[in-house]
Amino acid sequence: VTLPRLLAGAHSRRPVSLAEHVQRHGRADARSLVELVSASGLRGRGGGGFPTGEKLKAVRDQGGRAVVVANGTEGEPASGKDKALLRSVPHLVLDGAALAAEAVGADEAIVALGADARRELRVLDEALAERRAHRVDGVAIRLARVPNGFVCGEETALVSSLNGKPPKPTTTPPRPFERGVGGRPTLVQNVETLAHLALVARHGPEWFRAVGTRAEPGSILVTLGGAVARPGVLEAALGTPLRAVVAASGGTTAPVRAYLVGGYFGTWVAADDAERLRLLDADLAAAGAALGAGTIVALPQSSCGLVETARVARYLADSSAGQCGPCVHGLGAIAGALERIARGKESSPRLVRWLEQVRGRGACRHPDGASRFVSSALTVFAAELENHARGRCTGGGRPILPVAA
Ligand SMILES: Cc1cc2nc3c(=O)[nH]c(=O)nc-3n(C[C@H](O)[C@H](O)[C@H](O)COP(=O)(O)O)c2cc1C
Ligand code: SF4
Repeated sequence: VTLPRLLAGAHSRRPVSLAEHVQRHGRADARSLVELVSASGLRGRGGGGFPTGEKLKAVRDQGGRAVVVANGTEGEPASGKDKALLRSVPHLVLDGAALAAEAVGADEAIVALGADARRELRVLDEALAERRAHRVDGVAIRLARVPNGFVCGEETALVSSLNGKPPKPTTTPPRPFERGVGGRPTLVQNVETLAHLALVARHGPEWFRAVGTRAEPGSILVTLGGAVARPGVLEAALGTPLRAVVAASGGTTAPVRAYLVGGYFGTWVAADDAERLRLLDADLAAAGAALGAGTIVALPQSSCGLVETARVARYLADSSAGQCGPCVHGLGAIAGALERIARGKESSPRLVRWLEQVRGRGACRHPDGASRFVSSALTVFAAELENHARGRCTGGGRPILPVAA
């Protein structure tokens, strides 16, 4: 079975045109799509990993005039895979949005992009013009820009933005699948998930399952960053050893201290442990990690894990939507403590208590994700913690984790 699937035929400098796209993939229809997607075992690629077939069913079963939202906001600063996908194979994502819309009884699909995604907006605009000229879609597809920010891509925050309200998560029912954009049943799906769905509609579930494992089938887009020769986005079968993914990116460029797996809601994993893992939630769970949206960063020995973690913790605290006390104050306090620890001015007992206190205390999973990320740093960088307490830092290099504009 050959990979890439999603990125097949992608050029680095220009998007795949409609003619090239149709020549490569043919056309698809939405007949039995909900059942095909359920049988494929496809799970959401936006970070939550929820079974896509179940989401499609939930929206279809509402029976109303639904809306599909393709989530292309990609608020995670270390992730580039959704933007790469949109820039290179826009028609695959648009096919997925249109097919999902037909399958759940929606007459409208909205592709949501962050306000700074100017190139992706232009590419999609042109792709939509091509589709209109060739009357490809039976549903209306439009583009929407929403505020940038780590929390703005959370699905209830996204729905709120699209309804003209502030980009803040909500926990109270109704949930988007019941009443979302314009009060209509709303399917929010990550753009990569929709691209996979577009291929499942053409080739069926057995084809999808021909790569990956039985429990975690298919391929995923990985954004690899840090101390690797060719940082960027690549497509890998689920179950691929992390070592092979790093090798496919030209290998490491320096001795690696640890890998950040799963982005800023993910976990640090010590280099030796990480290199034994496969890209599978089953493997990663054993190491206390998860794949999330597929972001992996190799931290070189020359960088300090505590300094990196303090910077990201401050970014996550600043990204709080500002409506739940434990999130606003807790994450701020956690970031402050880490900054003092990184400067050798404090030890960690208070921090450990705060990390426990913020879990499960927000309207969305933001504090839980931030807490997990910081907790993993305290375990993986235990030796650095001791060094810092003695006023010594073993990694004075430039910080490598991006913390967004
Ligand atoms: C704080 C936070 C930020 C999120 N940011 C994104 C994002 O940028 N893009 C995305 O697709 N999903 C994001 N999600 C997940 C969405 O809420 C939602 O689960 C996802 O878009 C559903 O699509 P999927 O099932 O295809 O993954 C975020 C979730 C949380 C809690
Ligand atoms: S937990 Fe934080 S990010 Fe989530 S809604 Fe509450 S304040 Fe906003």
